[in-house]
Amino acid sequence: MQSNRLNLGIDPWLLTENDFDPSRVKSSESLFALGNGVMGGRANFEERYSGPSLQGNYIGGVYYPDKTRVGWWKNGYPEYFAKVLNAAFWIGVDVRVDGEELDLAQCEVKRFYREMDMRRSVLTRRMTVVLKNGAEVEVEAVRFLSLARRELGVIRYSVTPVNRDAEITFSPYIDADVRNSDANYDEKFWEPVRTEEDATQSRTRKSGFEVAWAQAVALDGAQFACETVPEKPRRTATVRCGKGTTATLYKYTGICSSLNHRPEELSAAAQAVAADGLQAGFDALVKEQEEAWAARWHRCDVVIDGDDAAQQGIRFCIFMLLQTYTGVDTRLNIGPKGFTGEKYGGVTYWDTEAYCLPFYLSTAGQEVARELLVYRYNQLDKAIENAAKLGFKEGAALYPMVTINGEECHNEWEITFEEIHRNGAIAYAIFNYIRYTGDRAYLAEGGLEVLLSIARFWAQRITWSEARQQYVMLGVTGPNEYENNVNNNWYTSYIACWCMRYAAEAAAWVRENRPEAYACICAKRHFDESAETARWMEIVDKMYLGEDRERGIFLQQDGYLDKEQVLVSELDPAERPINQKWSWDRILRSCFIKQADVLQGIYFFQENFDLETIRRNFRFYEARTVHESSLSPCVHAILAAKIGEAAKAYELYLRTARLDLDDYNREVEEGCHVTSMAGSWLAVVEGFGGMRMADGVLNFTPHLPEAWRSLAFRVDYRGRILTVTVTHEGVEVRNEGEPVEIAIGGERRRLPDDRR
Ligand code: BGC
Repeated sequence: MQSNRLNLGIDPWLLTENDFDPSRVKSSESLFALGNGVMGGRANFEERYSGPSLQGNYIGGVYYPDKTRVGWWKNGYPEYFAKVLNAAFWIGVDVRVDGEELDLAQCEVKRFYREMDMRRSVLTRRMTVVLKNGAEVEVEAVRFLSLARRELGVIRYSVTPVNRDAEITFSPYIDADVRNSDANYDEKFWEPVRTEEDATQSRTRKSGFEVAWAQAVALDGAQFACETVPEKPRRTATVRCGKGTTATLYKYTGICSSLNHRPEELSAAAQAVAADGLQAGFDALVKEQEEAWAARWHRCDVVIDGDDAAQQGIRFCIFMLLQTYTGVDTRLNIGPKGFTGEKYGGVTYWDTEAYCLPFYLSTAGQEVARELLVYRYNQLDKAIENAAKLGFKEGAALYPMVTINGEECHNEWEITFEEIHRNGAIAYAIFNYIRYTGDRAYLAEGGLEVLLSIARFWAQRITWSEARQQYVMLGVTGPNEYENNVNNNWYTSYIACWCMRYAAEAAAWVRENRPEAYACICAKRHFDESAETARWMEIVDKMYLGEDRERGIFLQQDGYLDKEQVLVSELDPAERPINQKWSWDRILRSCFIKQADVLQGIYFFQENFDLETIRRNFRFYEARTVHESSLSPCVHAILAAKIGEAAKAYELYLRTARLDLDDYNREVEEGCHVTSMAGSWLAVVEGFGGMRMADGVLNFTPHLPEAWRSLAFRVDYRGRILTVTVTHEGVEVRNEGEPVEIAIGGERRRLPDDRR
């Protein structure tokens, strides 16, 4: 079975491609990207390819501060945009057959098959090609980034002459002379440090990260000649191959960065990783890879029976998330494109807290999720500095819209200064984490400091309106970026109030339960609990939150109903996506909503609203939402499932889970939408599985789509692996762990340990 646009095969565990189409090379480079949580790269070909391609190899945490480029400078703009760097091309293997270069853009491709085995993160390519000199060869290239050895990349590259005996020349190399396609001033971001036999080391300009790459290669019966050009270590060997016999090259590459090693030891470290890989051998490394990935999948697989396209979609999302972040390092985070492209640079958006955290919380365990919270805790002082630059004081924090090291990178005033709701998501993540894990102690270990600093920001950001005799929130951009500089965005004001209330509760808890930590926090953050919380509560009590009583909905912002109320269903499909077809001015004046906004708030705080309220708001806003952010359909899908709009929920789910596989937005060649993949997981587990923490226990109230025979998913809940199986007859939960209380459809039950 084939999926539509990109001609990919549909299979529950495999991503496959059965033909070679140069116009799809870049899209496939994104979709077949590899990653091991600390580094990753696009599925470029190992051998030379002269057709259009976007080379991309990325190392988590290694960035370049690219000087800001804007049309008109505004005070408060950041100096630079931290970009994830395109790093050395470590996969290179030039191949010649009887002296003729193998280059798919220059030869006849008779057969082409590419496969990503998502079960174990191994990329395989098989092809039969006829070169210009008439030699026909079969090629198989297998590649992976080791999950067990985070600094190792492995390649097995085989060539078999088919129509005659041939001389095969392999030339494995590393090329550190690379650039970003997205560079503001066309600068090269790397400078060479040293190149030795088989290894090269480079340094990033300005940010001073150093990385060394080293290769160890093996080819039966061959003697390699070594060539060491600066930034490009290379080895070359030629073997004579009888017709039908195979020559196989093994290449092990060590990739070590100064995040983990001293610069002077880097080259030796990378060489040791490569040599250890060679020593272990390909088969043993594949086995390690399979085991490491099996352990990951064991905690988080989702099985959909009766719908292969949906099954592949969700596995692909989970797979990409696991490839992007594994929580082994608090300096790393989940960029919107993961390791699949350069776009979005900076890495960390509110996407992490609002979408990704719940995924890692339920699939990777408490420690990994906590790392994500600690990442923001470690950047708190920068967030306070950031707020101070904008005129806030007394320890108020504004987290950046996008960052890698805590400093703001975004430079469009309507987002940088106004899309402040991101602060709310960061506070919500702390609440969400504690609600799920029960780890209240985190409040004393970082949580409260973040919360009170965010609450201080809100308390300074509101304005007293004499006219309304209420507090208002002026000049903001909500999640819906198709409106800027609006007043009283309901979502922002609601989450601001919630933050102030939660920060006050958190302070009381720490005071009562961790008095020593409380004293330290008060001293360190100059926190006067009674005065500050009294002020927060006063604001919360008098905050203006817009509503339209007649329609029974919350008002996205002041004046929203003055807009011409047209529905998405009335839009000419030829005019969509509106962000590509309409002027910005027309978008701003229209009522169309880019992504969940009021509904994002209703989703976060579902318990605070009755079903009828959710239904009315859903119907009103869904009809006006164009979902031109990949983060949007998943939130709507969850709410649709909750209010019983099953068909709508299913339609929205497919749109999120197969967004990249079916290339809905026609931009997958730039990279995959990795953070929204967490939203797809939320749509399945929280939407169809109806998983939700309520009254201190994990509750499942499923809504299985008609088209599915069953849905099974695994979640890690307080150290136990729960397998939840939903059929049209009911729900079963198997517990691998100590007995635990959960609820099904609101009814509490105690799960025994099913391992016994
Ligand atoms: C969305 C933001 C999101 C960003 C990165 C934008 O298109 O509107 O909400 O944070 O993409 O994914």
